[in-house]
Order: sequence, then C-alpha cells, then structure tokens
Amino acid sequence: MKSHRVCDVLPSMQREEKTNVFKKMVVAGLLVAGLCAVAPGASAQQKAVDAEGHPWWQHAVFYEIYPRSFADSNNDGIGDLNGITSKLDYLTDLGVDAIWVTPCFPSPQVDFGYDVSDYEAIDPMYGTMKDFDSLVAEGKKRNVRVILDFVVNHTSDKHKWFQDSRSSKTSEHRDWFIWRDGKGPGQPPNNWLSTFGLSAWKLDPKTNQYYYHYFYPEQPDLNWRNPAVEKAMLDVTRFWYKRDVSGFRLDAVDTLFEDLKLTDNPVLPGTDKFGRPNMEEKYDKKLPEVHDVMRKLRGAADEYGSVLIGETWTANVSELKDYYGANNDELQLPMDLMMTGFRGLHADEYRKHIGAVNGAGHWPVYVISNHDIMRSYTRYADGAHNDDIAKMMAALYLTLRGTAIMYYGEEIGMENNDPKSKDEVQDPIGKLGWPLEKGRDGERTPMQWTDGQNDGFSRAKPWLPVPPSAKTHNVASEMKDQNSILSFYRQLLALRHKEPALLEGDYLALNENDSNVLGYVRRYKDEAFLILLNMSGTEQQARLDLSSIGFPMPKVRVMLTSFHKPLPPANGFVPMEPYSAFIAKITK
Ligand code: NOJ
Repeated sequence: MKSHRVCDVLPSMQREEKTNVFKKMVVAGLLVAGLCAVAPGASAQQKAVDAEGHPWWQHAVFYEIYPRSFADSNNDGIGDLNGITSKLDYLTDLGVDAIWVTPCFPSPQVDFGYDVSDYEAIDPMYGTMKDFDSLVAEGKKRNVRVILDFVVNHTSDKHKWFQDSRSSKTSEHRDWFIWRDGKGPGQPPNNWLSTFGLSAWKLDPKTNQYYYHYFYPEQPDLNWRNPAVEKAMLDVTRFWYKRDVSGFRLDAVDTLFEDLKLTDNPVLPGTDKFGRPNMEEKYDKKLPEVHDVMRKLRGAADEYGSVLIGETWTANVSELKDYYGANNDELQLPMDLMMTGFRGLHADEYRKHIGAVNGAGHWPVYVISNHDIMRSYTRYADGAHNDDIAKMMAALYLTLRGTAIMYYGEEIGMENNDPKSKDEVQDPIGKLGWPLEKGRDGERTPMQWTDGQNDGFSRAKPWLPVPPSAKTHNVASEMKDQNSILSFYRQLLALRHKEPALLEGDYLALNENDSNVLGYVRRYKDEAFLILLNMSGTEQQARLDLSSIGFPMPKVRVMLTSFHKPLPPANGFVPMEPYSAFIAKITK
C-alpha cells in the first residue's frame, strides 16, 4: 500500500498547457514521493495569543486521552498519568498542542471516572497530585497544554456533598441535588428516563424521597439552581486553573437543568434499545438556563486565559451557535459532533453541513471520534479501503477551518473491539442493554504502541482486550512505514501547523455539483489550499477550475496526497483514486 506526496510548482500558463504540465507533475511527483517531507512536530508556541492576535486554542490541535487506556507505567493493566507523561514526546512529534485527559479524579469508577467523588484530587489508580503536576510541567516544556474533563452535571453518589445530602431532609447539602416526593406509593415524580437505561429517579429509603439522575443512579444530578452549587463548582475550576490547567472539556452540559414543574416528557411511538417507550427529552434537556452557567464558567476561564470545550450534542447548527453565546461569552469551543451521526460518506451531505457551520460565523470544532461512540475507523470502513478512508477523513477534519480534536489511536487507525459476549462487557450500559446496546468498551481499548506483548501498553493483562489488527496498526510499525495512516497524520499535522491558509483561511466550497468529490479551498491573502476528497469507492475526475474563487491562472503545488499510484491524466481534472485525498497549495 502506498501513499504519495509531490511538491512540484506549477507556474501560471494557458489552461491547456497548464493541465498537461499538471498531469506530468502528478506522475513525476508520484515517482519522487517522499522528497518533500514536511517536518512533523512543528507545534504552536505556548503563548496565550499568537503574533496575529489569535488565542492559543484557535490553532491548536487537541488530542483526547482516555487515561485508563493510554499507557500503563506501573504495569497493573490500567493506564495512568505517568504513562501519559512518558508519551509526551510522541505527542509533540505528532503535532499535538493540547491533551484533554478524561476524568482522572477519585471515583468509584461506575462510569469509569465520570462519577467523581472528589473534584480536587487525583484517583490513586492514576497516580498522585505530584504526578499530575509533573505531567503539566513536562507538557509545558514541550508546549503541550493539559485540559481536564469537568463533570458538571452530576457527582458520584460517594461524593461527600451527596453523602451529606442524602443523610436527612435538613442537611446542609440537601438542596445541592434534586430531591422530590414520588407521585404516590412506588411511583417516581414523573416519567423522565435516565439515558443509561433506567428511570431517572431513585427512591432513597432513608428520607423516602426520590433523587434525580440523568445518568446512572450512582451519578446524582447537581442542583445548579442553588447558588452554593454554582459557587462550589466555579471554585473547582479555579483550583485547577491555579495548577496550570489550560481549560476544561465540560461534560454533559445539555442536561444541567430540568423543568422546575417536572412536566412529563412527551411519549413517542416505539421503544428504545433498553425496551422503554421512546420519549422526546423536552423538559429535562437543553433548558435555556444552561447558558447562564456557561457564561459564568466562561467568566472564570477568562480570568486565567483558559478555554472551555463543550460536550454539545446539538441537533442542528442553530443549537450549536447558541453555545458560543449571544455575545461570544459562553464556550469558545462547543464541539460539533453532528458529523458523527452521518450515515455513509456522501460529499453532498458533508458540503451542506460544513457550509452551514461556516455560515454561522463562529470558529468550528469538528470531531469524528471519542470515547462514547464507535471509532471513526470502524464507522467508515468498507472492508476494502479502510486505511484509505481513515486518511481521507483525517484530511477532511484537519484541513477544515476550525479547531481539531483527535481521539487517541485515531492516528494509527485503531478500530473498535466490541465485546463478543455479555460476560466480557465492562461498561454497565452494555450489560443492561445487551445485545442491542453493547456499551462503549469497544472504542476504549488500550493504545496500540507496538506489535509486542499487550501491544506495548502494559506488561500486565490490559483492562480491555486489543483487536487483532493491533499487530499491523500500532505506533512502532507505522512509524517505520511512510505510507501508514500515522505517517499521513504526521505530515498533515505538520502542514496544518505551518500553513496560514490552513490555519486561518476562509472556507470556499468548490465543484458544488460533484456528489463524489468534496472540494474546497482555504483562502488566505494571495494564497490558498485546495483540498479534494474522493468520498466514493470509485475513481473520480475532480474539476480543477479555480477562476470562480479568484485564482484564474493559479500556480499549483501539490503538498500531500494519499494516492497509491499515478492515475491516467485527464484535461483540467485531478484524477482521484477511490477514497483519496489531494491537498495542494495554490498561488496567483
Ligand atoms: C458524557 C461522557 O463522555 C460519558 O462517557 C459519560 O458516561 C457521560 N457524559 C456521563 O458523565
């Protein structure tokens, strides 16, 4: 399998002549692939604002790390903070500017850390506060910032606030959570459902009232209408900012508030994967009060020049827009997770969505993978072009206007390794919903560092099994292969870091009637980048006419492609292999 780069410069000339030279250039360039490697590892400096006044997070590449699964330094089968620190050079070399570490705070681990029992400490399973400080300090040396995950919607039922809250109806923290009487004996206060498969209400015998939990019963929802909760939570953020954390990914912000009257949600036809009636989450999600909290969290973040990334599962671009705040005073980076819901690869669908996001006028944040959804490699795989598709999708979200958030292992083509039977499942929702809901273990498996024992993750048996494809898709092997997915990512990230047009350029759609090849230009001053992505499984000829965007006689310099071999030339068109990416710099 071969991917190629070419770096010839095509001078301005008559269209036909130019096309012929272009054709030759592609062929010649393919033969000299590798001659113009872009130096990987050119990451942004750790300054709050760059020379042109952009805040640091705008051009940064973020990398999500699931600490249980990244690197195990003490060989207990579970990853840890020192493991992450030991891999900082790898991340710097890859071109990562900031890591988002999913919850590493003390937790009973019912939801693998998203049930926090102390917001201001480190779970011993992951190390100590000293290890954390060392991670931050080592990151700083390498210009890699650390972002933590702030679980704002709920605590663990073992958190001291909830322990006190449940102790009596008059306890100091009673009103820090949401307690209500049942409708009658054995009847919860209303029909709301937990997204994790049960009722959203749990009766606590001690005080004979129900408490509300949108997630597991072990994750009681905080009552954000209580000013004491708000203050305590804002203080938590300051605690970490003072330890040099550069921001937070805010967990589950959509569900911070619930209707005060506890109005029943409308019931819809059919049942969900847990066999419960479908429901429209009208009164327990996305209430307007959420935005007040976002503004307050932003106020605290601004005191420290920090960034807030939102776990924002929006249904459309208008909802996404709201999370930036009417006065740009909420989240700097609400995640656009909408592309993860697209079925299949359809250039028209992507073009329409990207156009709408750009039209909304904010700074986008495209995400294609995370620890809650099937890995992008598996989601898009067609069985015949899996690696090509992974490269093509990388080229898409790393060349679009906006901040990129990668998920660990995406850069080596890690695939999902779902449990084969219910007995193997670790994620409680997988046990509850088997077989329709298999849980999220599959996308959380250990990082594949080598093809050796336990894939170089640990000397002990890892907490989750790695897929057989780890033998070929691992860091060590892919480092040696210039045509690997990892090599493609490294080149792409290096390009992204050094090219103003990729960082800053406008987004202009190209060839809008082409349903197979997604084409666009990132235009910045007198230069631009042309990106062509063949989203189909067949060869395509992509039109190369840039006159409509102000480049009638462009010089074209091919910077990176994922092509395997030269394709037959065609007049005024770029020959595109199935599921391939073509990235060129164009100047007037
Ligand atoms: C979203 C997190 O990403 C997920 O892993 C977690 O289970 C829920 N929020 C609850 O915290």
